[in-house]
Amino acid sequence: MKSVSRVILLLAAAAFLTALTSSCDRPETSRTGFSPVATDTMRMAALRQAAIQGGLRRAAALEIPTDPERVAVGRLIFESRAMSINGEISCRDCHLDKFGSADGLPNAIGVGGEGEGRERMESDGRILPRNALPFWGRGGKGFDTFFWDGKVQKKDDVVASQYGEHSPSDDPLVVAVHLPSVELREMVEDTIEIRETVVSEDVGAANTIQSELAKRFASDTDIGPLLGSAYDRDASKISFAEIADALAQFIRHEFRLRPTRLERFVFDRGPITEAELAGGVLFYGRGRCVSCHNGPYFSDLDFHAVAFPQAGFGKNGFGIDEGRYNVTLDPRDRFLFRTAPLHNVTQTAPYSHSGSITSLKDAIIAHFDPLRLVDTNSMDVRQRSDLYARLGPAALEPLPTALRDEEVDQLVAFLAMLEFSSDGN
Ligand code: HEC
Ligand code: HEC
Repeated sequence: MKSVSRVILLLAAAAFLTALTSSCDRPETSRTGFSPVATDTMRMAALRQAAIQGGLRRAAALEIPTDPERVAVGRLIFESRAMSINGEISCRDCHLDKFGSADGLPNAIGVGGEGEGRERMESDGRILPRNALPFWGRGGKGFDTFFWDGKVQKKDDVVASQYGEHSPSDDPLVVAVHLPSVELREMVEDTIEIRETVVSEDVGAANTIQSELAKRFASDTDIGPLLGSAYDRDASKISFAEIADALAQFIRHEFRLRPTRLERFVFDRGPITEAELAGGVLFYGRGRCVSCHNGPYFSDLDFHAVAFPQAGFGKNGFGIDEGRYNVTLDPRDRFLFRTAPLHNVTQTAPYSHSGSITSLKDAIIAHFDPLRLVDTNSMDVRQRSDLYARLGPAALEPLPTALRDEEVDQLVAFLAMLEFSSDGN
């Protein structure tokens, strides 16, 4: 705590000096950096220290090694529509490279959907209640909480999930990749036959679907032999455990974090623009972003309330999503969601658990001025009462107070420092 307050003091001092000198002519900014005056040098030092204190690590330090053969077969499974028991949909249909490994849609569109991004909205696909999540860093060291409501979470060495005591793995990513293939509307068509034999939360039914999928992949002429060789067993002995492991290895490798401009600035004295520097000082200082967006993934992997507008019918129906409460049934968890990790966040619009926000700027504004983003007069009384209910818990959070538009722009510039591309930047 002591060192955190020291950093906040340093940042406050830096902000004060900026205010004093802000009437001076500022050097021209550019993507490649700017020529700092003395106070900027101090702000840069403060930002470097705050970022390290806030949990920034080099991407390479977070990597968990994978096996290339398993990654390669995992990629084929990820892209195969055979992964869906009756719905002709693959993981790739909702987790696309061009949308930063999400789908570019507010609410994901599952079985029956066709095309990519907006095109899917024209098709007859089943709509899911939540925004698809991107994968950056999901397989890295210490990333142990999955989905918007943390329905898969490793704590004290135990993975909690709908599998209860029969967790299929002690690796939470492996458990997480078990779920989509048995989720109704996502990869399973919601028909009467399926309803009668399968309920998505029922582990026995899930096992039936998954052993069928495993048989399918084992007898696939391309994938079967590759699985057999990657897991060193006869293809006929392949079970869903190997399928899930291969999917997890693929995600872990493909979406591992790479060095960002922030990493280069902090650890290698790389360049920074004036707007990025101002945004960084806000992120770790007065903007209070670091109180939740901390650690190597810019998320405390814990649950908080931000009164984002709600879009779509919501996990709990009638346009309501009670978030973490769905997992714990503890009333104190109503409307809490996992703090969003922020790598490549510039590429994963729309934002929030229901994808209700299209711009990064508005996603930040939602934290301190959510009413600016909704037209309360055009809402019906039910929607308004849901909004009041969500404003309550948000008011208890350490959220930033009023930030000016120009400051929000600076925060956007800072968040762009967390970009990287899979081929190294
Ligand atoms: C119909 C679209 C769709 C398909 C198909 C799909 N996903 Fe997703 N994925 C989502 C949505 C929506 C979420 C967020 C759900 C939530 O948190 O409630 C998500 C979340 C995830 C997460 C959690 C990421 C995190 O940050 O915690 C993982 C892992 C994942 N999907 C893997 C897969 C795999 C593996 C497949 C294929 C077996 C797959 N998905 C197929 C839409 C999809
Ligand atoms: C009290 C904890 C908390 C604080 C403080 C906080 N956030 Fe968040 N942030 C969250 C949570 C929780 C979400 C996801 C909420 C949801 O979807 O309902 C989120 C979502 C976001 C998103 C959307 C990302 C996405 O993928 O949908 C952005 C961008 C963001 N925060 C940036 C910021 C910035 C910048 C600040 C500082 C001005 C900040 N946050 C302060 C908790 C916090």
